[in-house]
Amino acid sequence: MEQFDYVVVGSGLAGLTFALKAAASGTVAVLTKAEIQESNTSYAQGGIAAAVGESDSWQLHEEDTLVAGAGLCDPEAVRFLVREAPAAITWLTEIGARFDSADGILALGREGGHSRHRIVHHADKTGWEIERAVTEAVRRDPRVTVFENAFATDLLVDQGRCVGVAARLIHRGDRRFAARATLVATGGCGRLYTHTTNPRIATGDGIGLGARAGARIENMEFMQFHPTTLYHPQLRSFLITEAVRGAGGTLRNHLGTRFMYDYDGRLELAPRDIVARAIDAEMKRLDTWCVYLDVAHLPREEIEEEFPTISERLESVGIHLFKDWIPVVPAQHYACGGLTTDLGGRTSVAGLYAAGEVANTGVHGANRLASNSLLEALVFASSAAEAVRSEPATPTTLPAPAPLHCVNENDAVRIRRALQKTMTEQAGIVRTTRGLEEARSAVAGLAEQYRKLPGAAFSAYSIETENLLATASFVVEGALARKENVGLHFNADFASNGSQ
Ligand code: FAD
Ligand code: SIN
Repeated sequence: MEQFDYVVVGSGLAGLTFALKAAASGTVAVLTKAEIQESNTSYAQGGIAAAVGESDSWQLHEEDTLVAGAGLCDPEAVRFLVREAPAAITWLTEIGARFDSADGILALGREGGHSRHRIVHHADKTGWEIERAVTEAVRRDPRVTVFENAFATDLLVDQGRCVGVAARLIHRGDRRFAARATLVATGGCGRLYTHTTNPRIATGDGIGLGARAGARIENMEFMQFHPTTLYHPQLRSFLITEAVRGAGGTLRNHLGTRFMYDYDGRLELAPRDIVARAIDAEMKRLDTWCVYLDVAHLPREEIEEEFPTISERLESVGIHLFKDWIPVVPAQHYACGGLTTDLGGRTSVAGLYAAGEVANTGVHGANRLASNSLLEALVFASSAAEAVRSEPATPTTLPAPAPLHCVNENDAVRIRRALQKTMTEQAGIVRTTRGLEEARSAVAGLAEQYRKLPGAAFSAYSIETENLLATASFVVEGALARKENVGLHFNADFASNGSQ
């Protein structure tokens, strides 16, 4: 048994921010299932929202966040988020993150739903830069021990209190980690869908872990689809940041029509659920596989300077920004719901905390405002690091973890693909009650198949698939329980109630 003051599952922005801050009051173990930098965080392009511009204020940021959340945000959590934002950016800068600036003043981008330029960024690879900064800071901190290739399989709960984590460490076998407090920071669950911007680590493990520990999990029906991911077989679901539309990029159908005029007065900068649904509707109306993003009319030098990664990646598949329109489709991008927490990151289980995309802090409500998630990871991981100080001492004994049930990887692949197809077709951008009911029985059927298959050797892929099945149930049940269209949840059967 390993003993630390705190154990963190996940090495994205939330996990590493917590580790760095909690190290001030104790020893920290970070368990991460791949290499340290492999996380959604590393792929973030656009940036971090913070009211740091001259004509901006936290009140305006608050208002934009509440509008995007469509009446379902927790106003206290939103206020906490936006007020803490400038200090969070300062902290990142202090630990070494570099953001674009001119004459010592931060250069701010603009994205959909924001009434001001307020996106702090590092060209179009902000996530890579902040993950680099937090990783290097963690490597320098002697009180933080990072276990890479350490797959958390279970939360250890004793008499209703989370007392640590069970994990499988590649080449080192099973270990149990005892801690005063455990933070789940496992990120998203994009791999529930056939098309997602999320990397392969995004398999809803935190939802599976939290559900088995009895934590409250809510709002999973609010699944965000990013409107503009590349439609190309060689670079599937590569994100074209919203900042490209912020810089003046326009959406066209294959006939060249700027179709957003037919959907929303805010055009390409309407909140992303509206843009994603408009693209979905346009593709269905015209029976096409994609729509197009056009930047050819924008100043070439500026665009190439602001979006070097995108220009380069598109060139690599033969798409030239100033000659071609970029073929785009929506893809799953972000889960707004998760383990419900208070302002200090506490879940409903004593000793168990959550932060980042896996948490349901209340700041996103029914729809997340662009670039608020890196901010949420920073702000709530920091407050959790304060809250854990009051937890009792690390236990000296631990309960045994529940037995694992892994299945043959071929079966896990088959079950995962069937699940992704069901979720994409029945629980995607536009849903129907009948489709969701079909999804409910398909997910239950797949879960039963999984349970009845003979046990096999340990396979992280298999456990991830089990976690995806658990996550899918929360999405489908949440969607069936929601009887009106709000934010990201859109059921075509309720379309006549006017909520679009
Ligand atoms: P992650 O960064 O995903 O980290 C999760 C960690 O948990 C990983 O280290 C993973 O390996 C580990 N893990 C998972 N399961 C286990 C397990 N069982 N055992 C051990 N370890 C485990 N948001 C913005 O605000 N601005 C943006 O510009 C932006 N752009 C984005 C672009 C892309 C392409 C994507 C995919 C997302 C973007 N987002 C953006 C969303 C944002 O990046 C994420 O919501 C945020 O980074 C999540 O951080 P996190 O720390 O919660 O999780
Ligand atoms: C983007 O860059 O478009 C993604 C921003 C986000 O997900 O917040």
